[in-house]
Amino acid sequence: MPTTSTVGPRVVLDDVTLGDVELALLGVLPVDHVLGGVVRVGSPVTGATVLLPRGLDGSGHPSGELLLVDEECTPLATLIVQEAVPCEGGSDLLRGLLRRERARESGAGGPRLDEAALLADWHLVVILSRPLTTDELPPWERGRVLLLVPDSRQSTDGIPTAVLLDMARHLAPEVGSDVTIRTAPLRWRDPASDTALGDLLAARLGAPVDLRHPSPDVDPRAVGWRDVRAALDSAVRDDPLDRVPDSVDQALRRWRPPRPRRGVVVMFTGLSGSGKSTLARSVRDALLETSSRTVSLLDGDAVRGLLSSGLGFDRVGREQNIRRIGFVATEVARHGGLVLCAPIAPYRSTRAEVRAMVREVGDFVLVHVSTPLETCEARDFKGLYAAARAGRIREFTGVSDPYESPDDADLVVDTTVMRVAEATAVVLAHLQTGGWLSEEIR
Ligand code: ADX
Repeated sequence: MPTTSTVGPRVVLDDVTLGDVELALLGVLPVDHVLGGVVRVGSPVTGATVLLPRGLDGSGHPSGELLLVDEECTPLATLIVQEAVPCEGGSDLLRGLLRRERARESGAGGPRLDEAALLADWHLVVILSRPLTTDELPPWERGRVLLLVPDSRQSTDGIPTAVLLDMARHLAPEVGSDVTIRTAPLRWRDPASDTALGDLLAARLGAPVDLRHPSPDVDPRAVGWRDVRAALDSAVRDDPLDRVPDSVDQALRRWRPPRPRRGVVVMFTGLSGSGKSTLARSVRDALLETSSRTVSLLDGDAVRGLLSSGLGFDRVGREQNIRRIGFVATEVARHGGLVLCAPIAPYRSTRAEVRAMVREVGDFVLVHVSTPLETCEARDFKGLYAAARAGRIREFTGVSDPYESPDDADLVVDTTVMRVAEATAVVLAHLQTGGWLSEEIR
């Protein structure tokens, strides 16, 4: 029985690194693979050494045993550390052997790739990392076929594992009479690594692997899928998609309904006093009056008073504030809601993070309220600019803290040249022509 220390040193691993730990335990990765790093083809050997970036949790761990846990602190493996390996760029690696502690549960409920599946005699292994288009359908090779669905939490091309599994189940009878479906801890990272991972699996399984990958850089057949994805994303009506089989069509449209029913988050970003809150409230009122969509407003100051109370205005506090707003907005959008949020959101990277998070479940519209600093400062409704200039408020955006202007805004409105009513009309027109309001608005 493996022992699980509850007090020894432990490292919480991210999803990519955790996937690699599992693959290494299955003997898929080559000797001295850097867990979570680029993948290179080499001879895969079960029980061989792996390398773990040292100080993942900031504490080093020079020797002994290190428990590797997931974000829920479930221990998955122990790294029996052999030595520290210096490497370029300063951050050391730890070389060691992995010992399994506990098998990971499959999030999407499908059986996982395990030793027994690795040892079976397959004629063909197909990695279904994306939906297939009609012209890609079988007939494939006769004989035993293994369909592998990646179970990454950072979903593949935004498509949840559950949707891919659903597709695999529908596809199975068409592929042959002896088809097995398994989920696998495959984490895609860059074209060279992804191709290498496919090759390593082929070597370990002793069968040809047909990698259906979402990027045309890895799988040129994915060009067709790109077109389907674009059509799905921009769909305003609930019409069947062209070029996909019925089963795939239904699963995809359930997952990403047409825009009038899809969740959408509108983020107004801009300096304090730029008019974000006023505009967001005005848009909300207009929508409540004229649209049947549900609307949630997450205003900057209101969020600061409750959801983010206690957070400061240093970089960490602001990032955390925006992530919380993004998290709540994403959950509302997941249920098809329309969310308006109006924080300063001064950092490009955090806005991009929220955009990516929201895009997994719906759409994201960024409105830059670009009212210049001089105007905001001249208005100074709250007297904060004066306080900031006098040094009574530190790290004040635009005065003593940065605001990174967006270069990816879907709309730019400047309230010095536009009244609130006009700016509101611009936002509503964007939502209307984009299809998020259907033809409801009057
Ligand atoms: S953000 O940077 O984290 O996005 P947020 O929108 O929540 O900021 O809060 C901004 C509001 O907090 C401003 O409108 C202002 O009323 C108030 N505030 C207090 N201190 C600061 C500060 N140092 N910088 C900017 N806004 C501040």
